Amino acid sequence: MRTLEASTLTIGGDLPVHRLGFGAMRLTGEPARLDRSTSIAIARRAVELGVTFIDTADSYDFGDNEELLAEALHPYRPDLVIATKGGHVNIGREWIPLGRPEYLRQQAELSLRRLRLDHIDLYQLHRIDPTVPLADQIGVLRRLQDQGKVRHVGLSEVTVQQLIEAEKITAIASVQNRYNLTDRASEDVLQYCERHGITFIPWLPIAPALRAGDPDPVTAIADRLGATRAQVALAWLLHRSPVILPIPGTASRTHLEENIAAAGLSLSPDEYARLAAVGKPADPA
Ligand SMILES: NC(=O)c1ccc[n+]([C@@H]2O[C@H](COP(=O)([O-])OP(=O)(O)OC[C@H]3O[C@@H](n4cnc5c(N)ncnc54)[C@H](OP(=O)(O)O)[C@@H]3O)[C@@H](O)[C@H]2O)c1
Repeated sequence: MRTLEASTLTIGGDLPVHRLGFGAMRLTGEPARLDRSTSIAIARRAVELGVTFIDTADSYDFGDNEELLAEALHPYRPDLVIATKGGHVNIGREWIPLGRPEYLRQQAELSLRRLRLDHIDLYQLHRIDPTVPLADQIGVLRRLQDQGKVRHVGLSEVTVQQLIEAEKITAIASVQNRYNLTDRASEDVLQYCERHGITFIPWLPIAPALRAGDPDPVTAIADRLGATRAQVALAWLLHRSPVILPIPGTASRTHLEENIAAAGLSLSPDEYARLAAVGKPADPA
């Protein structure tokens, strides 16, 4: 089984991680509802295969996702970065931004406890709460940094303007927006991150590419490489920009191994361009 190549990126100037991370969301809760030992085995396998960046959130199964990671991986390898998020509450099917500073503060403290950490390497504001001044939301994260409880601050689902506003209060090390082969709505945010050395963490990196289109370069390129569509989607993201850190999520050990092997795929310039065209907005008529 192939492990991750040595290719790394550095978050916030001092946190080197392998370019392919792991999204832990699907290890707990619906829809997979894995048994505990399987979830633990998948988390451990990810690290064994060279993953050094794992993404979770306080809201994934009411904190159980963070507890699972601690159960599986604590004491952590020194090179492992567990990034978590706060500020987005999941109630049933509904997700609600909740950015009151006292709430964010409490959630960061609870994440520290559940993850069994004395500081969080990367704490991401899961959503900006439109009902709370941005300065208050980022301000409390800045205070957590000053207290040594959070090393780097990241954002999720933001516009360039919001990113610029947040940067007035503290350095922003990462942005986690939805971005994949077919959904490039955050292209401007990615380009801003490239210009400013901010790590861009695309969520939903593969799922849309699993649906075959017609005619479809993804399948043709996958066939030529002896790869799967999921692997081609990940390879395209890795080729797209050196600041991109995909976090594919899976509840399957086979898919985990397949996704990690994608880091070793090489796309020719022509293949890269054909894939890039899949998600280009249509030319105005
Ligand atoms: N910031 C945010 O707002 C936000 C929102 C959503 C998610 N996230 C983060 O982003 C991570 C990734 O997002 P995601 O899990 O929604 O999207 P994803 O990684 O694009 O897709 C996961 C889906 O693809 C399937 N899959 C994975 N690898 C596969 C493979 N090799 N072959 C076939 N199917 C495969 C999974 O099913 P199987 O389980 O069967 O493999 C699952 O249904 C999450 O774990 C979470 O950490 C962040």
